[in-house]
Amino acid sequence: MDKLAIQGGHRLCGEIRISGAKNAALPILCAALLSADTLHLDNLPKLQDISTTLTLLGHIGCEMSRDEQGGIDLQAVQLKQLEAPYSLVKTMRASILVLGPMLARWGEARVSLPGGCAIGSRPVDLHIKGLQAMGAEIHIEHGYIHARASRLQGARIVMDTVTVTGTENLMMAATLAEGTTILENAAREPEVTDLAHCLIAMGADIQGVGTDTIIIQGVKRLHGASYPIMPDRIETGTYLVAAVMTQGNVTLTHTRPDTLDVVIDKLRASGALIQATDHHITVQMHQRPESISLRTAPYPAFPTDMQAQFMALNCIANGVGRVTETIFENRFMHVQEMQRLGAQIEVEGNTALVYGVAQLQAATVMATDLRASASLVLAALVAESETTIERIYHIDRGYEGIEEKLNQLGAKVRRIH
Ligand code: EPZ
Repeated sequence: MDKLAIQGGHRLCGEIRISGAKNAALPILCAALLSADTLHLDNLPKLQDISTTLTLLGHIGCEMSRDEQGGIDLQAVQLKQLEAPYSLVKTMRASILVLGPMLARWGEARVSLPGGCAIGSRPVDLHIKGLQAMGAEIHIEHGYIHARASRLQGARIVMDTVTVTGTENLMMAATLAEGTTILENAAREPEVTDLAHCLIAMGADIQGVGTDTIIIQGVKRLHGASYPIMPDRIETGTYLVAAVMTQGNVTLTHTRPDTLDVVIDKLRASGALIQATDHHITVQMHQRPESISLRTAPYPAFPTDMQAQFMALNCIANGVGRVTETIFENRFMHVQEMQRLGAQIEVEGNTALVYGVAQLQAATVMATDLRASASLVLAALVAESETTIERIYHIDRGYEGIEEKLNQLGAKVRRIH
């Protein structure tokens, strides 16, 4: 398994380009199943999770071809398989996003139940309840979700928990259902909005995009479209934190500052100078950051996918930061690893108190989940001497060319195969 060796102590300076958003690309790729016409996508990030999704779509029967500019054409004319096999789903939970589109297009789907993962049990009960409300017959056996529906019917669905992929699955299914579907307490994440805009480009009738009440008027069929994937706001936030921690001066291009208001506010509170235009962010930091307290919650509040990164910032900040995680029950896996680097952190339930230290020590640490891995990279950038991070396949799932981008900014990162 690959490792990353990171030499700490280098300020990050310069400019890098932000890639397309993983969590927008995944549902949008699955939306290709909703139409027999060609869906052309641009700004697709080169990530393991994208390759996994393309393998799954090919298995189901989607034809695809890529162009040199990183764009891709997808066309789901003939169904080959009704099944999303465990072998693929176990490597990526977001495979559940083929369930809604397959059911809506072909009236049947067999999708392996996604396993849990490091950060929590992560059930899909709200996906299933919503599809049942739309008339699907669903039963679960041998670890598979078997769903059937001659034609899905529009329904009013109130989700008792805000769920991002749950909202996405149900919204995609509703585009081809008979009648009107109302999703209440829907997720408002920018990636949900990006999916809605792509579906509308394909001819879907969707109102209330970006709000917690989404109304979808079913149509007979969707047509092809050409759509650019939005920039990745979590990749953007991660590099902003890296620049602040190393007291650097970094410009990020091809990004969307308007999707990061709370994160930018918190970084300014830690002492960073941040200027933003429509597609660029420049961050400068001239002193040790001040500790930041935060509480994760659904968009537009502080994103859970930035929690571990801010934990890393608090480890070397001036003061005490209180970090509360309200979305997942076990998203502090990075704490033990950071303690190996000398961080002073006390965890009580879903709250961590982080007492900033002047300097972290190098050590060998292990990545456990995608954002925890990113936070260990951040900590290693400021630790004295060289830190080795093992099991970095987690990072490759969500950060395109992380060592190239960091080295372009003056870091000293090498991948050990
Ligand atoms: C999406 O996961 C993201 N993944 C996650 O990003 C992100 O952390 C999460 O949303 C929260 O923002 C993708 O978009 C591919 P949820 P998702 O359903 O949709 C509970 C990353 O780092 N829940 O919004 O799986 C669930 O247990 C990943 O890129 C139910 O109880 O998250 C959790 O406590 C990690 N029943 C809460 O809702 C359900 O049916 C939010 O989960 C569904 C969810």
